[in-house]
Amino acid sequence: MSSTRKAAAAATALPEGPRPRAGGGGASGTYSVLDFLTDGENDTAGRQLVQLFSGYLYTPVAVAIVELGILGRLAGKALTPEDIAKDAGTDPDATGRLLRAGMAVGLLSGDEDGRFRLSPAGERLGPDAGRLGEMAVLWLEPIREAMVGLAEHVRSGQQVDPAAPGGFWDYLGSHPGEAVKFARAMGYATSRLPGALDAAGYRPPAASRVVDVGGNRGTMLAWLLKALPDAAGVIVDRAEAMATAPDFLGAAGVQHRTELVPGSFFEEVPEGDLHLLSRVLHNWDDKSVRRIVANCAKAGRPGGSLVVVEYVLPAVPEPAAGHLMDVMMMVLYGGRERTLEQHRALIEPCGYALREEFPVGAVDGGQPPLRVLEFART
Ligand SMILES: C[S@@+](CC[C@H](N)C(=O)[O-])C[C@H]1O[C@@H](n2cnc3c(N)ncnc32)[C@H](O)[C@@H]1O
Repeated sequence: MSSTRKAAAAATALPEGPRPRAGGGGASGTYSVLDFLTDGENDTAGRQLVQLFSGYLYTPVAVAIVELGILGRLAGKALTPEDIAKDAGTDPDATGRLLRAGMAVGLLSGDEDGRFRLSPAGERLGPDAGRLGEMAVLWLEPIREAMVGLAEHVRSGQQVDPAAPGGFWDYLGSHPGEAVKFARAMGYATSRLPGALDAAGYRPPAASRVVDVGGNRGTMLAWLLKALPDAAGVIVDRAEAMATAPDFLGAAGVQHRTELVPGSFFEEVPEGDLHLLSRVLHNWDDKSVRRIVANCAKAGRPGGSLVVVEYVLPAVPEPAAGHLMDVMMMVLYGGRERTLEQHRALIEPCGYALREEFPVGAVDGGQPPLRVLEFART
Protein backbone atom coordinates (compact mmCIF):
# COMPACT_ATOMS: atom_id res chain seq x y z
CA MET A 1 0.00 0.00 0.00
CA SER A 2 1.40 3.46 -0.90
CA SER A 3 2.02 5.90 1.94
CA THR A 4 -0.86 8.10 0.76
CA ARG A 5 -3.20 5.13 0.64
CA LYS A 6 -2.10 4.15 4.13
CA ALA A 7 -2.82 7.68 5.34
CA ALA A 8 -6.26 7.60 3.72
CA ALA A 9 -7.05 4.24 5.27
CA ALA A 10 -5.94 5.56 8.66
CA ALA A 11 -8.19 8.58 8.18
CA THR A 12 -11.26 6.36 7.74
CA ALA A 13 -10.44 4.20 10.78
CA LEU A 14 -12.36 5.11 13.92
CA PRO A 15 -10.57 5.78 17.21
CA GLU A 16 -9.46 3.08 19.61
CA GLY A 17 -11.82 2.83 22.53
CA PRO A 18 -12.58 0.62 25.49
CA ARG A 19 -14.08 -2.82 25.15
CA PRO A 20 -17.37 -3.21 27.02
CA ARG A 21 -17.24 -5.46 30.04
CA ALA A 22 -19.14 -8.11 28.11
CA GLY A 23 -20.21 -8.69 24.52
CA GLY A 24 -18.60 -8.30 21.12
CA GLY A 25 -17.16 -5.25 19.50
CA GLY A 26 -15.27 -4.04 16.50
CA ALA A 27 -11.64 -4.59 15.68
CA SER A 28 -11.19 -0.82 15.76
CA GLY A 29 -12.41 -0.66 19.38
CA THR A 30 -15.64 1.04 18.40
CA TYR A 31 -18.91 -0.74 17.84
CA SER A 32 -21.22 -0.56 14.89
CA VAL A 33 -24.86 -1.56 14.86
CA LEU A 34 -24.02 -2.99 11.44
CA ASP A 35 -21.14 -5.22 12.61
CA PHE A 36 -23.29 -8.31 12.11
CA LEU A 37 -23.32 -7.56 8.36
CA THR A 38 -19.59 -8.21 8.02
CA ASP A 39 -17.97 -11.59 7.55
CA GLY A 40 -16.01 -11.26 10.79
CA GLU A 41 -12.87 -9.57 12.11
CA ASN A 42 -10.85 -10.32 8.96
CA ASP A 43 -13.41 -8.82 6.56
CA THR A 44 -11.49 -5.56 6.12
CA ALA A 45 -13.66 -4.19 3.30
CA GLY A 46 -16.86 -5.12 5.12
CA ARG A 47 -15.64 -3.45 8.33
CA GLN A 48 -14.66 -0.32 6.40
CA LEU A 49 -18.14 -0.15 4.86
CA VAL A 50 -20.05 -0.57 8.12
CA GLN A 51 -17.91 2.18 9.65
CA LEU A 52 -18.69 4.48 6.72
CA PHE A 53 -22.42 3.89 7.14
CA SER A 54 -22.39 4.22 10.93
CA GLY A 55 -21.26 7.85 10.92
CA TYR A 56 -24.83 9.05 11.41
CA LEU A 57 -24.69 7.46 14.88
CA TYR A 58 -21.10 8.14 15.95
CA THR A 59 -20.93 11.85 15.21
CA PRO A 60 -24.17 12.92 16.96
CA VAL A 61 -23.27 10.85 20.05
CA ALA A 62 -19.83 12.48 20.23
CA VAL A 63 -21.27 15.96 19.60
CA ALA A 64 -23.93 15.51 22.32
CA ILE A 65 -21.27 14.41 24.82
CA VAL A 66 -19.22 17.52 24.00
CA GLU A 67 -22.20 19.91 23.92
CA LEU A 68 -23.57 18.75 27.28
CA GLY A 69 -20.20 19.36 28.93
CA ILE A 70 -19.89 15.70 29.95
CA LEU A 71 -16.15 15.63 29.22
CA GLY A 72 -15.50 18.48 31.65
CA ARG A 73 -17.64 16.88 34.34
CA LEU A 74 -15.75 13.59 34.01
CA ALA A 75 -12.27 15.17 33.97
CA GLY A 76 -10.20 13.27 36.54
CA LYS A 77 -13.18 11.49 38.13
CA ALA A 78 -15.78 8.76 37.72
CA LEU A 79 -19.46 9.67 38.01
CA THR A 80 -22.85 7.97 37.76
CA PRO A 81 -25.43 9.09 35.19
CA GLU A 82 -27.47 10.53 38.09
CA ASP A 83 -24.48 12.65 39.26
CA ILE A 84 -24.01 14.00 35.76
CA ALA A 85 -27.71 14.57 35.11
CA LYS A 86 -28.06 16.52 38.38
CA ASP A 87 -25.10 18.74 37.56
CA ALA A 88 -25.90 19.20 33.84
CA GLY A 89 -29.67 19.57 34.31
CA THR A 90 -30.36 16.65 31.98
CA ASP A 91 -32.72 13.67 32.16
CA PRO A 92 -31.10 10.87 34.23
CA ASP A 93 -32.35 7.95 32.12
CA ALA A 94 -31.44 9.61 28.80
CA THR A 95 -28.07 10.64 30.25
CA GLY A 96 -27.28 7.04 31.19
CA ARG A 97 -28.17 5.89 27.69
CA LEU A 98 -25.97 8.56 26.12
CA LEU A 99 -23.07 7.60 28.41
CA ARG A 100 -23.38 3.95 27.40
CA ALA A 101 -23.45 5.01 23.74
CA GLY A 102 -20.34 7.06 24.58
CA MET A 103 -18.67 3.78 25.54
CA ALA A 104 -19.65 2.29 22.17
CA VAL A 105 -18.00 5.15 20.27
CA GLY A 106 -14.88 4.88 22.39
CA LEU A 107 -15.05 8.14 24.37
CA LEU A 108 -15.98 6.70 27.79
CA SER A 109 -15.48 3.60 29.84
CA GLY A 110 -17.69 2.20 32.56
CA ASP A 111 -16.91 0.75 36.00
CA GLU A 112 -18.65 -2.25 37.57
CA ASP A 113 -20.33 0.10 40.07
CA GLY A 114 -22.13 2.04 37.30
CA ARG A 115 -19.73 4.99 37.14
CA PHE A 116 -18.34 6.37 33.91
CA ARG A 117 -14.92 7.88 33.22
CA LEU A 118 -13.07 9.25 30.19
CA SER A 119 -11.26 6.87 27.87
CA PRO A 120 -7.88 8.01 26.47
CA ALA A 121 -9.76 9.37 23.41
CA GLY A 122 -12.23 11.17 25.70
CA GLU A 123 -9.29 12.75 27.54
CA ARG A 124 -7.81 13.93 24.24
CA LEU A 125 -10.98 15.97 23.69
CA GLY A 126 -10.05 18.08 26.68
CA PRO A 127 -11.80 18.79 29.97
CA ASP A 128 -14.12 21.51 28.69
CA ALA A 129 -14.23 20.33 25.10
CA GLY A 130 -11.13 22.38 24.34
CA ARG A 131 -8.63 21.16 21.77
CA LEU A 132 -10.09 18.53 19.41
CA GLY A 133 -13.52 18.98 21.02
CA GLU A 134 -13.80 22.33 19.27
CA MET A 135 -14.37 20.36 16.07
CA ALA A 136 -17.78 19.24 17.39
CA VAL A 137 -19.12 22.62 16.36
CA LEU A 138 -18.64 21.71 12.70
CA TRP A 139 -21.87 19.72 13.14
CA LEU A 140 -23.56 23.11 12.65
CA GLU A 141 -27.02 23.08 11.14
CA PRO A 142 -26.08 24.61 7.75
CA ILE A 143 -23.14 22.21 7.38
CA ARG A 144 -25.32 19.19 8.23
CA GLU A 145 -28.01 20.27 5.80
CA ALA A 146 -25.54 21.01 3.02
CA MET A 147 -23.75 17.67 3.36
CA VAL A 148 -27.03 15.72 3.43
CA GLY A 149 -27.88 17.30 0.07
CA LEU A 150 -24.65 16.16 -1.59
CA ALA A 151 -26.19 13.62 -4.00
CA GLU A 152 -28.88 16.08 -5.09
CA HIS A 153 -26.23 18.74 -5.52
CA VAL A 154 -24.17 16.47 -7.78
CA ARG A 155 -27.30 15.56 -9.76
CA SER A 156 -28.36 19.14 -10.40
CA GLY A 157 -25.00 20.94 -10.41
CA GLN A 158 -26.68 23.81 -8.57
CA GLN A 159 -24.41 26.73 -7.68
CA VAL A 160 -24.28 28.03 -4.12
CA ASP A 161 -23.60 31.72 -3.51
CA PRO A 162 -22.26 32.04 0.05
CA ALA A 163 -22.62 35.83 -0.09
CA ALA A 164 -26.34 35.55 -0.91
CA PRO A 165 -28.85 36.29 1.88
CA GLY A 166 -29.29 33.12 3.96
CA GLY A 167 -25.82 31.84 3.02
CA PHE A 168 -23.40 30.40 5.56
CA TRP A 169 -21.75 33.71 6.53
CA ASP A 170 -25.19 35.28 6.91
CA TYR A 171 -26.19 32.42 9.22
CA LEU A 172 -23.18 33.15 11.45
CA GLY A 173 -23.99 36.88 11.26
CA SER A 174 -27.47 36.25 12.68
CA HIS A 175 -26.30 33.59 15.20
CA PRO A 176 -23.50 35.32 17.14
CA GLY A 177 -23.15 32.39 19.58
CA GLU A 178 -22.56 30.02 16.66
CA ALA A 179 -20.10 32.51 15.11
CA VAL A 180 -18.04 32.41 18.32
CA LYS A 181 -18.11 28.61 18.32
CA PHE A 182 -17.11 28.56 14.63
CA ALA A 183 -14.24 30.96 15.41
CA ARG A 184 -13.06 28.62 18.18
CA ALA A 185 -13.22 25.62 15.84
CA MET A 186 -11.43 27.50 13.05
CA GLY A 187 -8.91 28.81 15.57
CA TYR A 188 -8.21 25.33 16.87
CA ALA A 189 -7.94 23.91 13.35
CA THR A 190 -5.46 26.66 12.43
CA SER A 191 -3.56 26.66 15.72
CA ARG A 192 -1.44 23.64 14.77
CA LEU A 193 -0.24 25.31 11.57
CA PRO A 194 2.30 27.78 12.97
CA GLY A 195 4.13 25.04 14.89
CA ALA A 196 4.13 22.79 11.82
CA LEU A 197 5.45 25.64 9.67
CA ASP A 198 8.18 26.47 12.19
CA ALA A 199 9.16 22.80 12.40
CA ALA A 200 9.26 22.54 8.62
CA GLY A 201 11.60 25.56 8.46
CA TYR A 202 9.19 28.01 6.81
CA ARG A 203 10.05 31.67 7.43
CA PRO A 204 7.55 34.35 6.37
CA PRO A 205 8.76 37.08 4.03
CA ALA A 206 9.94 40.34 5.60
CA ALA A 207 7.15 42.89 6.14
CA SER A 208 6.33 45.96 8.19
CA ARG A 209 2.50 45.75 7.89
CA VAL A 210 0.82 42.35 7.76
CA VAL A 211 -2.84 42.08 6.75
CA ASP A 212 -4.71 38.88 7.70
CA VAL A 213 -7.52 38.90 5.13
CA GLY A 214 -10.52 36.94 6.46
CA GLY A 215 -8.27 36.38 9.48
CA ASN A 216 -11.03 35.54 11.98
CA ARG A 217 -9.55 35.69 15.51
CA GLY A 218 -6.04 36.13 14.01
CA THR A 219 -4.48 32.75 14.77
CA MET A 220 -2.04 33.08 11.86
CA LEU A 221 -1.50 36.80 12.38
CA ALA A 222 -0.31 36.24 15.96
CA TRP A 223 2.31 33.82 14.65
CA LEU A 224 3.40 36.20 11.88
CA LEU A 225 3.73 39.08 14.33
CA LYS A 226 5.91 36.97 16.61
CA ALA A 227 8.09 36.04 13.63
CA LEU A 228 8.22 39.72 12.53
CA PRO A 229 8.73 41.59 15.86
CA ASP A 230 8.78 45.08 14.30
CA ALA A 231 5.69 44.61 12.14
CA ALA A 232 2.17 45.94 12.74
CA GLY A 233 -0.84 43.74 12.01
CA VAL A 234 -4.36 44.18 10.67
CA ILE A 235 -7.29 41.77 10.47
CA VAL A 236 -10.07 42.46 8.01
CA ASP A 237 -13.11 40.23 8.52
CA ARG A 238 -16.82 40.31 9.27
CA ALA A 239 -17.45 41.88 12.68
CA GLU A 240 -18.93 38.76 14.30
CA ALA A 241 -15.97 36.64 13.15
CA MET A 242 -13.55 38.91 15.07
CA ALA A 243 -15.50 38.79 18.37
CA THR A 244 -12.85 36.65 20.07
CA ALA A 245 -9.86 38.36 18.41
CA PRO A 246 -9.10 40.87 21.24
CA ASP A 247 -8.86 38.10 23.86
CA PHE A 248 -6.87 35.80 21.61
CA LEU A 249 -4.43 38.48 20.43
CA GLY A 250 -4.13 39.79 24.01
CA ALA A 251 -3.18 36.32 25.27
CA ALA A 252 -0.64 36.05 22.43
CA GLY A 253 0.85 39.41 23.49
CA VAL A 254 0.34 41.11 20.11
CA GLN A 255 -2.91 43.01 20.58
CA HIS A 256 -1.12 46.37 20.95
CA ARG A 257 0.32 45.90 17.45
CA THR A 258 -2.95 44.84 15.80
CA GLU A 259 -5.83 46.78 14.29
CA LEU A 260 -9.22 45.12 13.69
CA VAL A 261 -11.04 46.32 10.58
CA PRO A 262 -14.61 45.07 10.27
CA GLY A 263 -15.61 44.93 6.62
CA SER A 264 -15.72 42.90 3.45
CA PHE A 265 -12.69 41.91 1.42
CA PHE A 266 -14.93 42.32 -1.64
CA GLU A 267 -15.09 46.06 -0.93
CA GLU A 268 -11.61 46.91 0.25
CA VAL A 269 -8.51 45.36 1.77
CA PRO A 270 -6.22 47.43 4.05
CA GLU A 271 -2.79 48.45 2.77
CA GLY A 272 0.21 46.34 3.68
CA ASP A 273 3.32 44.60 2.40
CA LEU A 274 2.25 41.09 3.37
CA HIS A 275 -1.30 39.94 2.70
CA LEU A 276 -2.29 36.58 4.13
CA LEU A 277 -5.22 34.50 2.83
CA SER A 278 -5.38 31.46 5.10
CA ARG A 279 -8.10 29.03 4.04
CA VAL A 280 -10.19 31.82 2.61
CA LEU A 281 -9.99 31.25 -1.15
CA HIS A 282 -11.44 27.71 -0.97
CA ASN A 283 -14.71 29.22 0.29
CA TRP A 284 -15.27 31.01 -3.00
CA ASP A 285 -15.85 30.46 -6.72
CA ASP A 286 -13.26 31.60 -9.26
CA LYS A 287 -14.89 34.97 -9.93
CA SER A 288 -14.96 35.85 -6.23
CA VAL A 289 -11.35 34.66 -5.78
CA ARG A 290 -10.23 37.07 -8.51
CA ARG A 291 -12.02 39.93 -6.73
CA ILE A 292 -10.45 39.14 -3.36
CA VAL A 293 -6.94 38.72 -4.79
CA ALA A 294 -7.29 41.84 -6.96
CA ASN A 295 -8.20 43.82 -3.82
CA CYS A 296 -5.10 42.46 -2.07
CA ALA A 297 -2.94 43.42 -5.07
CA LYS A 298 -4.45 46.91 -5.07
CA ALA A 299 -3.58 47.30 -1.38
CA GLY A 300 -0.17 45.62 -1.72
CA ARG A 301 2.91 47.80 -1.42
CA PRO A 302 5.64 47.44 -4.11
CA GLY A 303 7.91 44.51 -3.28
CA GLY A 304 5.18 43.01 -1.08
CA SER A 305 3.94 39.44 -0.82
CA LEU A 306 0.76 37.39 -0.80
CA VAL A 307 0.79 34.25 1.33
CA VAL A 308 -1.97 31.71 0.62
CA VAL A 309 -2.66 28.67 2.83
CA GLU A 310 -4.91 26.03 1.27
CA TYR A 311 -5.58 22.31 0.90
CA VAL A 312 -3.81 22.35 -2.46
CA LEU A 313 -5.09 19.35 -4.43
CA PRO A 314 -2.66 16.90 -6.03
CA ALA A 315 -2.41 17.40 -9.82
CA VAL A 316 -3.41 13.74 -10.31
CA PRO A 317 -6.29 12.66 -8.00
CA GLU A 318 -5.09 10.72 -4.96
CA PRO A 319 -6.86 9.74 -1.74
CA ALA A 320 -6.05 13.18 -0.30
CA ALA A 321 -8.01 14.93 2.48
CA GLY A 322 -8.42 17.92 0.16
CA HIS A 323 -10.87 16.00 -2.06
CA LEU A 324 -13.19 15.53 0.94
CA MET A 325 -12.90 19.19 1.89
CA ASP A 326 -13.63 20.00 -1.76
CA VAL A 327 -17.11 18.45 -1.70
CA MET A 328 -17.92 20.34 1.48
CA MET A 329 -16.78 23.58 -0.14
CA MET A 330 -19.00 22.75 -3.14
CA VAL A 331 -22.22 22.17 -1.19
CA LEU A 332 -21.76 24.74 1.57
CA TYR A 333 -20.15 27.71 -0.14
CA GLY A 334 -20.02 27.12 -3.88
CA GLY A 335 -16.25 27.17 -3.34
CA ARG A 336 -13.63 24.59 -4.24
CA GLU A 337 -10.19 23.25 -3.43
CA ARG A 338 -7.71 23.80 -6.24
CA THR A 339 -4.47 22.40 -7.62
CA LEU A 340 -1.30 24.50 -7.61
CA GLU A 341 -1.81 25.34 -11.30
CA GLN A 342 -5.42 26.40 -10.69
CA HIS A 343 -4.23 28.72 -7.89
CA ARG A 344 -1.55 30.21 -10.14
CA ALA A 345 -4.01 30.73 -13.00
CA LEU A 346 -6.30 32.75 -10.73
CA ILE A 347 -3.73 34.64 -8.66
CA GLU A 348 -0.87 35.51 -11.01
CA PRO A 349 -2.90 37.61 -13.51
CA CYS A 350 -3.92 39.82 -10.55
CA GLY A 351 -0.31 40.99 -10.15
CA TYR A 352 1.63 38.23 -8.39
CA ALA A 353 4.22 35.57 -9.27
CA LEU A 354 4.67 32.32 -7.34
CA ARG A 355 7.83 32.51 -5.23
CA GLU A 356 7.62 29.32 -3.16
CA GLU A 357 5.40 26.34 -2.43
CA PHE A 358 5.70 24.86 1.04
CA PRO A 359 3.99 21.56 2.03
CA VAL A 360 2.89 21.34 5.66
CA GLY A 361 1.14 18.97 8.04
CA ALA A 362 1.89 15.55 6.51
CA VAL A 363 1.22 12.75 8.98
CA ASP A 364 2.98 9.41 8.74
CA GLY A 365 4.52 10.15 5.35
CA GLY A 366 1.11 10.78 3.74
CA GLN A 367 -0.02 13.54 1.39
CA PRO A 368 0.53 16.89 3.16
CA PRO A 369 -3.01 18.23 3.65
CA LEU A 370 -2.04 21.91 3.51
CA ARG A 371 0.38 24.02 1.51
CA VAL A 372 1.68 27.53 1.82
CA LEU A 373 1.90 29.31 -1.53
CA GLU A 374 4.03 32.42 -1.35
CA PHE A 375 3.59 34.95 -4.16
CA ALA A 376 5.66 38.08 -4.87
CA ARG A 377 3.94 41.30 -5.94
CA THR A 378 4.96 41.95 -9.57
C1 LIG B 1 -12.54 29.41 6.75
S1 LIG B 1 -12.39 30.88 7.69
C2 LIG B 1 -10.60 31.12 7.78
C3 LIG B 1 -10.18 31.89 9.00
C4 LIG B 1 -8.68 32.14 9.18
N1 LIG B 1 -8.09 32.79 8.05
C5 LIG B 1 -7.94 30.86 9.52
O1 LIG B 1 -7.14 30.38 8.71
O2 LIG B 1 -8.14 30.35 10.65
C6 LIG B 1 -12.87 32.10 6.49
C7 LIG B 1 -12.97 33.49 7.05
O3 LIG B 1 -13.43 34.37 6.00
C8 LIG B 1 -14.26 35.35 6.61
N2 LIG B 1 -15.12 36.02 5.61
C9 LIG B 1 -16.21 35.54 4.97
N3 LIG B 1 -16.71 36.47 4.16
C10 LIG B 1 -15.95 37.57 4.28
C11 LIG B 1 -15.96 38.87 3.69
N4 LIG B 1 -16.87 39.19 2.77
N5 LIG B 1 -15.00 39.76 4.05
C12 LIG B 1 -14.06 39.43 4.97
N6 LIG B 1 -13.99 38.21 5.57
C13 LIG B 1 -14.93 37.30 5.22
C14 LIG B 1 -15.05 34.53 7.62
O4 LIG B 1 -15.70 35.34 8.57
C15 LIG B 1 -13.95 33.64 8.19
O5 LIG B 1 -13.33 34.22 9.30
